[in-house]
Amino acid sequence: MQIIIIIFLFLIILLLLYLLIIFLLFAFDAFLELPYVATRRDKISTIIKLASIKKGDTVIDLGSGDGRLLFAAAKKGAHAIGYELNPLLVMFTRFKAGLLGYSSSERQRVEKSLIISSRQARTIKKGTITIKRQDLWEADLSSANVIFVYGRAKTMPRFEKFVYQNAKRGARIIVNTDKTIPFPTKNPTKAENGFYLYKV
Ligand SMILES: C[S@@+](CC[C@H](N)C(=O)[O-])C[C@H]1O[C@@H](n2cnc3c(N)ncnc32)[C@H](O)[C@@H]1O
Repeated sequence: MQIIIIIFLFLIILLLLYLLIIFLLFAFDAFLELPYVATRRDKISTIIKLASIKKGDTVIDLGSGDGRLLFAAAKKGAHAIGYELNPLLVMFTRFKAGLLGYSSSERQRVEKSLIISSRQARTIKKGTITIKRQDLWEADLSSANVIFVYGRAKTMPRFEKFVYQNAKRGARIIVNTDKTIPFPTKNPTKAENGFYLYKV
């Protein structure tokens, strides 16, 4: 009987911890201009295809959330950089990137070592993920071949201006318009399934 009570209490504690994490996740974002809404997983392949992501590309996600777009880009061999302010989302993405061998700091360490294991050799072949806990409006876009934007309708004019002023010529921009709008003044090169491709 005692063991059942202990297991029950343990499960209650786990549930409370889970609820606390979810609460903190959304409580933090309530203070941001752009709250956390993740891109639907079944739409990620459309984005990757539309952006024509290839090995060696530098991809930036402005507000990277749980990093799902970064992982999809890194899987294609890209160097994916996420700007994210929510500390829980930053921690989660860094942890997952380390676990899956995409961490850019791990990559640098491996490249410096003289003798490497087969797991480390596999790490070198993959893309990388870097998470910057920084304001996305201060992001350095100069190295990006691809930029992901998922904003609110009222932030889209600011996103358009920011990207066109700071990205390099030829950079491909993917705008997710789920519950929002595309760039207000620029013409997209292509549109598919609610995602718009622009070329700077
Ligand atoms: C709409 S969500 C997009 C998440 C992710 N890109 C995706 O498609 O699944 C916007 C994200 O931007 C983050 N965010 C909001 N304001 C930010 C800011 N000023 N700087 C960096 N990140 C910000 C939020 O915490 C949230 O995770």
